[in-house]
Amino acid sequence: MCGIVGYIGHREAYPIVIQGLQRLEYRGYDSAGVAIYDGVDLKVCKTKGKVADLEARVAQDITTNGNIAIGHTRWATHGVPNDINAHPHLSNSGDLVIIHNGIIENYDSLRKELTTRGYTFESDTDTEVLINLIEDVKLNENVKLGKAVQIALNQVIGAYAIAVFDKNKPDEIVIARLGSPLAVGIGDNEFFIASDASPFIEYTKNAVYLEDEEMAVIRLGKPMKVRKIKDDSLVVPYVQELQMNLEQIEKGGYPHFMLKEIFEQPSAIKDTYRGRLLAKEGIIRMAGIDDNIERFLNAKRIIIVACGTSWHAGLVAEYIFEDLARIPVEVEYASEFRYRNPIISDKDVVIAISQSGETADTLAAIKLAKSRGAFVFGVCNVVGSSIARETHAGAYTHAGPEIGVASTKAFTTQITVLTLIALKLAKNNGSMSNSDFHHHLQELELIPEKVEKALQSDPHIQAVAEIYKNAKNCLYLGRGYNFPVALEGALKLKEISYIHAEGYPAAEMKHGPIALIDEQMPVIVIATKKGHYEKVVSNIEEIKARKGKIIGIVTEGDTNVKQLADHVIEVPETLESLSPLLTTIPLQLLSYHIAVMLGRNVDQPRNLAKSVTVE
Ligand code: G6P
Repeated sequence: MCGIVGYIGHREAYPIVIQGLQRLEYRGYDSAGVAIYDGVDLKVCKTKGKVADLEARVAQDITTNGNIAIGHTRWATHGVPNDINAHPHLSNSGDLVIIHNGIIENYDSLRKELTTRGYTFESDTDTEVLINLIEDVKLNENVKLGKAVQIALNQVIGAYAIAVFDKNKPDEIVIARLGSPLAVGIGDNEFFIASDASPFIEYTKNAVYLEDEEMAVIRLGKPMKVRKIKDDSLVVPYVQELQMNLEQIEKGGYPHFMLKEIFEQPSAIKDTYRGRLLAKEGIIRMAGIDDNIERFLNAKRIIIVACGTSWHAGLVAEYIFEDLARIPVEVEYASEFRYRNPIISDKDVVIAISQSGETADTLAAIKLAKSRGAFVFGVCNVVGSSIARETHAGAYTHAGPEIGVASTKAFTTQITVLTLIALKLAKNNGSMSNSDFHHHLQELELIPEKVEKALQSDPHIQAVAEIYKNAKNCLYLGRGYNFPVALEGALKLKEISYIHAEGYPAAEMKHGPIALIDEQMPVIVIATKKGHYEKVVSNIEEIKARKGKIIGIVTEGDTNVKQLADHVIEVPETLESLSPLLTTIPLQLLSYHIAVMLGRNVDQPRNLAKSVTVE
């Protein structure tokens, strides 16, 4: 939620900051702003709307030269999205300026206290309270900015990644982090600050990720000094070499990131299993599992915690783990798990799934599980993310940056990692025969080319989208392994087209959703061979009897469903346990095309954000 960018050095700061904001727009896009010091004055420009709106406003309203600047793209928490609530925010004197990602929970009491001391507030934000608290400390205690930030933050309850500077001391930026990510790119006497490394990838490969409860004063001509906010102790910053490259965060000729990411799935899945899946040798190599194999084998159960699409991947994993490795699994929304006093012990293994590795609820669920003795394993995409660091061990999905807000390749690569883990455990605990194990490895290795084949149906899917683009409601049905895929299909459609959609286990249809079916209602049914095929075909008959429109996702060469359905979309045949990796593809494309046809902002759907760092 919210993206923050800052620059201090010898270059023009504004172009770096504005480009950085464009790259971080996936984090929030309801308003945006910049503050630049031009050597004489502090220029602030902010607006409701997207970064493109900000650029237009800046071109009209302010000059942009200067070597220090900060910028923000917002996902509103406190206060509606408008020009005034947009960041950056100034202190009452106009000297200090701040950008903030997170929530100050005790802002109301702080605001009241500051008001009694004569401070006034223009906006409804918690951030304006924080910058005035910093100013108040600085003036009253007569301390430097870094110290004032530290003292103020010790009075704050909440989460934050902030960058602050003083126009009277434009050679330094003070940054701090608790619960929201913050990366610093270190160049040659220049520093880049951002919520992730994408804004500075072409300038430097050296980055420091601030840990929770750390702050730093970034001063030109000085090495970066990192301290603990609480006790002021110095921390030696760990400089990491970035693996990301520019190409990965550009659209590469596709009209949208989402489409690019859908089409990247064959290579993303390959990248996920590369070096791990050795099909010929009959080996799965995963350091995070190998090093902790006893914890997994002795686990009474596995609890999976996640949110959104990652939660759906967790549901698929429940089928995989229980079916293949015979280990009991519970899948929980992280947001529910963290607040319901769950029974967890040191006999439990918790798997946290998160593309971004920053989701606040998932992070809190992990902390809770750890505090009760569970072993926590992370499945994340973003390397070095908070969840990757907070878990005892983990496996990255290696899908590459996912920028479209609607998750696509993250989902299929999460399922790939979870399948590898389940197979490895199945082999180790003897719940799978050798030949079955080998067969699974061979089939998994073939998945990328089968995904490629599924993608070839794109023109046909586009034609189906054209027919149903004006639907008001949609139903998605699947059974077994493909029930979570139905949920994910419905979520994709909702997220980007704003058409109401529901996913259901096919057999549950008769307990409610069947009442919705009439000739206007498209029903997308996943009816691949194996996987209770006959039962699903009966469900299709029930829909047909009520004149619903049927779009069947079927195995190549299927003739049965073809006779019943209005349209079929084929996917190649594979093992039932691997089928979600294929059946998901047409559902992603269907949502994508419908959303494009309706003129929606596919990569940045309304009200959503890619990285949800607030509860
Ligand atoms: C947001 C995103 C979803 C994502 C969910 C969980 O809602 O829009 O696409 O599935 O967060 O995110 P995570 O990064 O933890 O997988």
